[in-house]
Amino acid sequence: MVHSSSKTIFLCNNCGNEFSKWHGQCPACNEWGTLSEFSPPKSRRKSHGQPARETQLLNTLLEKKDRQRILSNIKEVDRVLGGGFLLGSMILLGGQPGIGKSTLALQIIAGLGQDVLYVSAEESEQQLALRAERLGVKSERFHVSGENEILNILEQVSVVQPKFVVIDSIQTVYNEDLDSLPGSVSQLRDCGQQLLKACKQKGFTVIVIGHVTKEGIIAGPKMLEHMVDTVLYLEGDDRYDHRILRSAKNRFGATNEVGIFHMTSSGLEEVSNPSELFLAERTTNAAGTAIFPSMEGTRPILVEVQALVSKANFGIPQRNVNGIDSRRLSMLLAVLEKRLGQVMGLNDVFVNLVGGLKIQDPAADLSIISAVASSNRDNIVSENTVLIGEVGLTGEVRSVSRIDQRLQEAAALGFTHAVIPKGNMKNSKKPKGLNIHGVGTVQEAFKYLF
Ligand SMILES: Nc1ncnc2c1ncn2[C@@H]1O[C@H](COP(=O)(O)OP(=O)(O)OP(=O)(O)O)[C@@H](O)[C@H]1O
Ligand SMILES: [Mg+2]
Repeated sequence: MVHSSSKTIFLCNNCGNEFSKWHGQCPACNEWGTLSEFSPPKSRRKSHGQPARETQLLNTLLEKKDRQRILSNIKEVDRVLGGGFLLGSMILLGGQPGIGKSTLALQIIAGLGQDVLYVSAEESEQQLALRAERLGVKSERFHVSGENEILNILEQVSVVQPKFVVIDSIQTVYNEDLDSLPGSVSQLRDCGQQLLKACKQKGFTVIVIGHVTKEGIIAGPKMLEHMVDTVLYLEGDDRYDHRILRSAKNRFGATNEVGIFHMTSSGLEEVSNPSELFLAERTTNAAGTAIFPSMEGTRPILVEVQALVSKANFGIPQRNVNGIDSRRLSMLLAVLEKRLGQVMGLNDVFVNLVGGLKIQDPAADLSIISAVASSNRDNIVSENTVLIGEVGLTGEVRSVSRIDQRLQEAAALGFTHAVIPKGNMKNSKKPKGLNIHGVGTVQEAFKYLF
């Protein structure tokens, strides 16, 4: 390692800001104890040797046709990206250990039909070859590198001239000129910036794989997320084989799209009808469940909301949620108590979205409150009914977006009844075979359901 004698600065591990002196609390993000000493490297290359890039007219750029997107031929991935990959973009793919990040990256670039370079900094080239064999990946244009040093990687990029580069993973890549260990804030920052500069200048797309911490955020400072164009998370649950690809940030598309896959021995398979998957092991004729047509981006997915209300035997009653916001549940419980007279204060309440899905759609309110009431009263919500509606503080049921798509998906899966907000009745088309009941309040909904 080259030890530098440059002036020491202090870097915040949380926000990535630099300071000339040490602070106990970061002046930028107010986190405590996040500043660490950092010696900027003496660059091996002359930084001012390059001429400045020429400015260009927007109109000239608009005429150029090289902004086209390249499809990976995995529909779920292309949709999450907002219609395929843009050349010259940088994508961060995060996920928990063993969730399938390397598998997904390998499958994506295998389907591109372009010159690609896979930098396997974490596993040996042989391990990568074994995985490629298992996944049936074969290509004449697929280059593999086991290099870990960023400047050497960029040299390989200059030689191979790929259109796509995968860095697996950013935490194992380092710059030899820095004193710190691979995976440290200064290494992540430097390697990230070098990659960003190269991909924008040379016009290749780079997929950077990053580990996530226990809290579920990409290990390393937030600045890695600021730096890239797109942040994708591959999520899943140990109990299930399906994986969900979600975009947390996208400069070239919407962020609420999800892609759903099934993990098999031959890799990740796309799930074209997720509603069927999430309702596969559904319990019918049991109190405490309700079906909700959720919108994940542009696609409706039917999910089962399960609730269990039981008497708390000791201490403070528990509120345990999976897949929804716990504050939203508290609000719905308060509405249930205040507006509908169902006392929840002495009960434990558990709410679970089956299949490990996470939703933030307020249209789920009516299904959650009904599932809780159903368990509390031991009354069943008919198995052929879907529930849609946002619940307000006075117990009113408010209109929601994309009602037609939600109803169509419910009808397509054989549901015969839907309870929807009155406000959505006017402009909603009635799919064949679906009886629609409009409600203005939760009381009206319960009258119809129980
Ligand atoms: N033979 C197999 N059959 C079925 N699934 C397999 C098989 N081999 C691996 N897998 C699945 O692939 C997962 C590992 O995938 P992968 O190595 O792509 O994950 P990763 O996110 O890159 O992990 P890491 O964090 O270690 O890099 C395993 O957890 C398992 O679910
Ligand atoms: Mg991996």
